[in-house]
Amino acid sequence: MSEELRFDGRVAVVTGAGAGLGREYALLFGTRGAKVVVNDLGGSFQGEGASKRAADVVVDEIRALGGTAVADYNSVVDGAKVIETAIKNFGRIDILVNNAGILRDRSIAKTSEQDWDLIHAVHLKGSFKCTQAAWPYMRKQNYGRIIMTSSNSGIYGNFGQANYSAAKMGLVGLANTVAIEGEKNNIHCNVIIPTAASRMTEGILPDMLFNELKPNLIAPVVVYLCHESCEDNGSYIESAAGWATKVHIVRGKGCVLRTSIDEKATSPEYVKIVWSKVTDMTDAKHLDNISQASGYLLEVLENLKEGKIGGIEDTFKYSSK
Ligand code: NAI
Repeated sequence: MSEELRFDGRVAVVTGAGAGLGREYALLFGTRGAKVVVNDLGGSFQGEGASKRAADVVVDEIRALGGTAVADYNSVVDGAKVIETAIKNFGRIDILVNNAGILRDRSIAKTSEQDWDLIHAVHLKGSFKCTQAAWPYMRKQNYGRIIMTSSNSGIYGNFGQANYSAAKMGLVGLANTVAIEGEKNNIHCNVIIPTAASRMTEGILPDMLFNELKPNLIAPVVVYLCHESCEDNGSYIESAAGWATKVHIVRGKGCVLRTSIDEKATSPEYVKIVWSKVTDMTDAKHLDNISQASGYLLEVLENLKEGKIGGIEDTFKYSSK
């Protein structure tokens, strides 16, 4: 085994650390030398009520293991207060794991505005507020590690989770830009897509699966992503049951809908004819950044200008039929 990954001198804020996944992250950071802020509002899984107990219990657990921790009972929506707890107690913030979450599952037809707003407030706005509050400290010290917590419900959709899916995919977008803006200051932002047994998934996941999905199996992945030796920035990592993988968004090769650079129009009928090529994912590729996306478009235009119809040879066969 290689050298133990340590966090001595580092300060980690884990939101929603009073239970489930967040508790495991906080415990692992605590045993690896980080000073930990255990943030938890302590309400129900639907976001009602508040209690200091959840955070207090985890702080006691970390201290019992010989670690250093303080509790923070603020809602993540008050991100400045959460980060202030780290600064007041430990004088810095190096790691922020945006993990706090609630559920208010309803089908799209039955989702109330309150169900929508609460989910977005806790997941998306809460992560934004905590990240923004940590930002000046991380920038000044030229170091930071940030995690956003997404979900397969966001990536693929899930019946009854329109509000949650939208917020969880929003976190992917937020992470994409935070990763770009932080790069020059050695602030990395990555996304965890977990599946774990917790009060959130109890009764939803089948029993057999539930017993295998221990949240402590995901903690080492998140903790590694937050280590200074981890070079990933802007990665989406899915993990569950002692397994992890990188997830990519890919783009197909596509199909040119114009026959030359002079051709300024196309038609719904032509789009229909070539639709199978538009949606063909055979040579799909991951693009690293937005410049690659626009670069490819420029290439398409360049090819059209030069009379090269790159990528549309086959479509001519259709159109000439
Ligand atoms: P959990 O319910 O066990 O833990 C979430 C914690 O967040 C709770 O202790 C809760 O009190 C706290 N919290 C809720 N609202 C808060 C607020 N406004 N401010 C501060 N703390 C707040 O849930 P679990 O399963 O550990 O989930 C952790 C994260 O992982 C959530 O963001 C969840 O959406 C996400 N996730 C979990 C999956 C799973 O399979 N368990 C799947 C995909 C994503």
